[in-house]
Amino acid sequence: MHQNVTIAEAIVLSCFRPTPERNRIVYEEANFPSVRYLYQAQPELEVVAVEDDKAIVDAIDERTLLVPISHVLFKTAEIQDVAPIVRRAHEAGAHVVLDAYQSAGVVPLDVTELDVDFATGGSVKWLCGGPGAGWLYVRPDLAASLEPTLVGWQGHARPFDFEPELEYAEGVARFLTGTPNVPALYAASAGYDVIEEVGVDRIRANSIRQTRLLIELLDEAGFEVGSPRDPARRGGTVLVKTPEFQAVHKELAERQIFCDFRPDAGIRLGPHFYNTDEELRFTVREMAEIVATGAYERHLGATARF
Ligand SMILES: Cc1ncc(COP(=O)(O)O)c(C=O)c1O
Repeated sequence: MHQNVTIAEAIVLSCFRPTPERNRIVYEEANFPSVRYLYQAQPELEVVAVEDDKAIVDAIDERTLLVPISHVLFKTAEIQDVAPIVRRAHEAGAHVVLDAYQSAGVVPLDVTELDVDFATGGSVKWLCGGPGAGWLYVRPDLAASLEPTLVGWQGHARPFDFEPELEYAEGVARFLTGTPNVPALYAASAGYDVIEEVGVDRIRANSIRQTRLLIELLDEAGFEVGSPRDPARRGGTVLVKTPEFQAVHKELAERQIFCDFRPDAGIRLGPHFYNTDEELRFTVREMAEIVATGAYERHLGATARF
């Protein structure tokens, strides 16, 4: 458990000593800012940002150290084709860090089958667990050998002996830092239990059905949809482009319809297993009415953030 994805990725990065011969980070432009900024901020790294998942495969070379990718893109909810990236990275001697924040809990995620070296995410989205409860997975063989330099007392072989010299714990425990966020862990576990009880396969089946319904409703209402129409490439969110979408979002919130938006993208509608089809119909009807009547105009210029 870690505070957030930024910390988890920083711990991964701390396992490596970049050299001029291997100092490249290859990722996609649509990666989440936490991930982008962390690597950009390291003076010894050379960041190569490319257009999409296919371009990542082409950009990986023998100078590539790490390939931090998203399983599902945060703005469009496009599922990324992870397997060819992992194959190419391993062929070139690079490691893949999968950010599964937008997939875990709604799109099946099997880190062993994907053969990623590291995976990270958090609990604010589909896992229904709230903030401060991020996580890091490390491939077991790497967990046995890598030595993160971002480490704290919990990463020691005998943490409660508080010994003066560092001796790494066996396996993934060495990727711990200091005192974990215990209240966040307890707050998150109830959501995780519910997701486990319902089952991600069932959640995914319902999500594909409901996001398809949403797309049909949005098409009928004349809205532009910004997420993939192919369900195999679509995560749990449907991106909708409306005029003045920040203001439309604010009006939706005032009508007790809770969703969010991302700058330069649009409104993100993320139905989960507890939403009804009628709620989706109601949302699109209200959105159409808000746009047709100009009800959003009183919010223009307001900085609605959530
Ligand atoms: C793909 C993705 N990665 C990471 C994060 C969050 O990053 P952090 O845990 O550093 O706040 C989000 C949150 O929206 C996200 O969508």
